[in-house]
Amino acid sequence: MDIGIDKIGFYVPKDYIDIVELAKARDVDPDKFTIGIGQDKQAVPKPYQDAVTLAASSADSILSAEDKKDLGLLIVGTESSVDESKSTAAFLMDLLDLPEDIRAFEIKQACFGATAGLMTAYDYISQNPDKKALVIATDIARYGIKTPGEVTQGAGSVAMIVSQNPRVLKLNHKSVYMTKNVGDFWRPTFSKTAFARGKYSNEIYVDFFQTLWDKYQAKYDATIDDFDTLLFHIPYTKMGTKALRTLDGKIDADKYAELTSHYQASIRFSRSVGNLYTGSLYLGLLSYLINGAKAGENLLMFSYGSGAVGELYSAEIQPTFAQGFDQANILKMLDDRQKMSIEAYEKMYQVEYENGTIVDPETVSEKFYLSEIKDNERLYKKA
Ligand code: HMG
Repeated sequence: MDIGIDKIGFYVPKDYIDIVELAKARDVDPDKFTIGIGQDKQAVPKPYQDAVTLAASSADSILSAEDKKDLGLLIVGTESSVDESKSTAAFLMDLLDLPEDIRAFEIKQACFGATAGLMTAYDYISQNPDKKALVIATDIARYGIKTPGEVTQGAGSVAMIVSQNPRVLKLNHKSVYMTKNVGDFWRPTFSKTAFARGKYSNEIYVDFFQTLWDKYQAKYDATIDDFDTLLFHIPYTKMGTKALRTLDGKIDADKYAELTSHYQASIRFSRSVGNLYTGSLYLGLLSYLINGAKAGENLLMFSYGSGAVGELYSAEIQPTFAQGFDQANILKMLDDRQKMSIEAYEKMYQVEYENGTIVDPETVSEKFYLSEIKDNERLYKKA
């Protein structure tokens, strides 16, 4: 039975900051941010948006009434959760109007969460072929103002419906993975912002990719010629470039040029959105599907979540792939965003809603929003 991604949806907040303006405000040469880091714009969420509302928005863009009827599993991958007990998935039941005979939960392992969800959904569909699973990656990546990680922030969400006979991407059930206890990046429960050993995290990421690629070749007797495209977790677009470069000189020059050109197509959206944490690999997939993919191509996908877990797996683009997402809408959403000044971003960044907060619906420009915090409970509304 073929199992994989049948539909893919994306949501990005309506505001962004310009990376050249950020560089100037931080007294940094703009080339460092645009070339050295490889970013152009960074998505900035509103204070009344969080992992729940971002997730609701991407899922809402793809869920049909028939999908809702067939859903048996809902998994949300996030590391920006709003509650240490109740899952983001539970909040979504009302917002998305989902039937209650669903197993719904949240997975956390840094940027690996969505891949863990996707693999769990694969197993679920193999046992329940007539059902569907919804996997959502949702995050707000925050390091703090004037930190080295600030340029690698971002926010957004990717939702995927997993089913048999998928229209977009067939998962080949060929995968290698690894886990190590590594202190490259972490966010203690008391902190809204992450801590990172930046350069060390880059080294670990590249090490994981190299180890997994060696493992994959040995396990499946594979070579680079088995793949048309390599997609990477993209915390910032230079990071995937660094992993890809480990192949330079080791593989045929034409093949390397082809992989590099396909990688460029996969990072177009990330350049103008920033880090989605667990959604980043899947934003890269969507960018590739819209900007370069051809039916029948074989993909090698590298998922990495700090802490650290890595997985390298293969997938095949289906002939019907263009039916599985709303290209016009996604491009319009990216184009219609508004630029914020760096001052306005800094101000918004400091806004913290507390117990007792009530958000005035007149000030809300999004369909899903945090409406109130009452008795320390977060309450959401759909406009
Ligand atoms: P930094 O210290 O500001 O930057 O930190 P740098 O000095 O390393 O410079 C960055 C690059 O810009 C270098 O290129 C410079 O040469 C270049 P590279 O050597 O890397 O190829 N550069 C210039 N280029 C052109 N013109 C110039 C110029 N000046 C310098 N004038 C760092 C950068 C990424 C470390 C920082 O932003 C950071 O700590 N980010 C957060 C951590 C991170 O994203 N790590 C990625 C791997 S871990 C991961 O992917 C997991 C993650 O998504 C979390 C999760 O799993 O949940 C982060």
